[in-house]
Amino acid sequence: MTKKFNIKSIAVIGGGPGGLAALYEFLYTNKDGSSTVGKEKAANPAFEKIVVFEQKNNAGGIWASDVEHSDPLFPPQEFLDSERYNDPDVIHPEIEQPSGLTLENSYDSPLVLNENRQAFEWSSSGVYADLFTNIPTRFTRFSYLPDEEKYHDDSRVIYPFLTHQELSQRLYDLIERENLSRYIRTNTRVEKVQKNEEGQWVITAKIKEQSKEYWYQEEFDAVVVANGHYTVPNIPRIEGLAEYHRANHSLLIHAKSYSDRNIFKDKKVLVVGNSISSANLLQYIFPLARETYLSKRSHHIVFPWIETATQSEGIKVKPAIKRFIPETKEVEFTDSTTVKDFDVILFTTGYHYHYPFLKDILGVVEPSNLSRVSGLYLNTFSIKDPTLAVTGVAISHLNFHTIETSAAAIAGLWSNVKALPPKEELHTWEEDHKKETGDNLLFHFYPPEKVRVFINELSPYFPQGRSDPLSKDEQYLVKDMDLANARLEKLFYDLKDGRVSVTDTVNVK
Ligand SMILES: Cc1cc2nc3c(=O)[nH]c(=O)nc-3n(C[C@H](O)[C@H](O)[C@H](O)COP(=O)(O)OP(=O)(O)OC[C@H]3O[C@@H](n4cnc5c(N)ncnc54)[C@H](O)[C@@H]3O)c2cc1C
Ligand SMILES: NC(=O)c1ccc[n+]([C@@H]2O[C@H](COP(=O)([O-])OP(=O)(O)OC[C@H]3O[C@@H](n4cnc5c(N)ncnc54)[C@H](OP(=O)(O)O)[C@@H]3O)[C@@H](O)[C@H]2O)c1
Repeated sequence: MTKKFNIKSIAVIGGGPGGLAALYEFLYTNKDGSSTVGKEKAANPAFEKIVVFEQKNNAGGIWASDVEHSDPLFPPQEFLDSERYNDPDVIHPEIEQPSGLTLENSYDSPLVLNENRQAFEWSSSGVYADLFTNIPTRFTRFSYLPDEEKYHDDSRVIYPFLTHQELSQRLYDLIERENLSRYIRTNTRVEKVQKNEEGQWVITAKIKEQSKEYWYQEEFDAVVVANGHYTVPNIPRIEGLAEYHRANHSLLIHAKSYSDRNIFKDKKVLVVGNSISSANLLQYIFPLARETYLSKRSHHIVFPWIETATQSEGIKVKPAIKRFIPETKEVEFTDSTTVKDFDVILFTTGYHYHYPFLKDILGVVEPSNLSRVSGLYLNTFSIKDPTLAVTGVAISHLNFHTIETSAAAIAGLWSNVKALPPKEELHTWEEDHKKETGDNLLFHFYPPEKVRVFINELSPYFPQGRSDPLSKDEQYLVKDMDLANARLEKLFYDLKDGRVSVTDTVNVK
């Protein structure tokens, strides 16, 4: 018989949509496993202490505006020289803890270091000034957030999408409405998560100030990992890249650090990659650049129109890069053609899942933009230790719904609504799912037509009476997704060909 959980205190790592959804769900779950979502907060709450650790100065995840954009444009030369820059452990290393740090160093009595060590945290948001969402307004929200009528106005230039500020505002409104700030410790980065002999999770956290670091440890019964997976850039290993970067022939930049489209003005630009960021940035680059090239290694599958758009008129398409030749300022492609003198090379080559603070529990299979997180049941519960769970690992057009689903299932499991099957069955699920999808990113991919499967697998763990995250809006799913595809495609060509100005998509009423 499975032991019942006795979880009173929970640490949530990350204050983005995934962390906020978990916090919200915990506050609306009673001790008896009943849900009060849609009503008042739980009168007899299941969980006594919840702390959300957020490394940035504001909650909201990638949607929280970055006060200071601290990440470099590209991994620094010393990382490139290692020739292992495709490994996230190299460009996003675990930070050494100060010696002498113990549980005595609590939140109220931290260990103070009179230094602020340079660390590559890749904590800035990849959301840039001109970005609007690519998922329709109705589906870019949790089911308990309002579906504002004003965003259903089809005269809006970006209808049915939102500016990134409008989406941020949704999250800020949630934080305010629910008074969530008192649970969130901002400017606090989790550096290590370990289990001690007493079976408690020990969180090692660091607060950073101008020239000081404050370190402390704190024990919790359970941990939610909600650190996102779109902040650590994936830089593919390519022959000659490190030397080319040193020679400074072109400005090398990863999409996550892009902020101002004017860097492309009158420039000869190469975009590497053929996915959502590639198409999204091409629509801004093409009208400004002198020449635009795209290097692609495969077909795009998430948004059907992208494959045609990235090869549309005027964009010079090349296969994958074979090598950089710094001596001649050339880039050689796999078809043996070469092009020289690029002013800017933009890597839209995706991101890494990365858990430097939790290596023993969450594994990442073959790190790249296509890797898989191993050891998870239903993309949510750690198989090794189900007092650890994650939100936001699934890849979906309906991110907000998959996040909400995982959060509700975690709250239900930890308030003992339903026990997990025996460990062998959890492993069998992972193995079977792997056979279906492959041992790669597709393991986590739930396109709109598969989100119902994701929800149905997890909903038996929901707190009692918890409403279905999608049922109210499901009737609009096909219509809205078709509309989104058509509108994204039209906006791409309108922006690319100058029929719509970027300013019009930014200053939306
Ligand atoms: C450019 C871009 C555009 C996107 N557009 C859309 C869109 O239009 N629609 C859509 O639905 N989705 C979009 N997404 C996906 C987006 O990631 C999700 O909408 C959503 O932000 C996922 O929430 P999350 O909480 O899982 O991750 P995040 O939003 O990344 O939040 C994770 C949080 O954890 C914090 N954190 C990380 N590590 C630590 C640590 N060690 N200690 C403390 N805090 C930590 C981070 O600072 C961050 O605040 C986009 C992604 C990108 C990169
Ligand atoms: N709201 C918006 O409009 C918006 C804008 C931008 C991004 N986003 C979001 O951001 C997230 C990440 O998207 P993304 O496009 O940045 O990442 P992505 O989907 O992982 O795409 C990475 C691309 O880089 C390619 N690539 C990787 N290594 C390569 C190499 N060595 N040579 C050539 N190509 C290589 C990949 O090819 P393979 O397919 O072969 O791996 C793929 O085409 C998504 O959730 C997306 O929705 C949203």
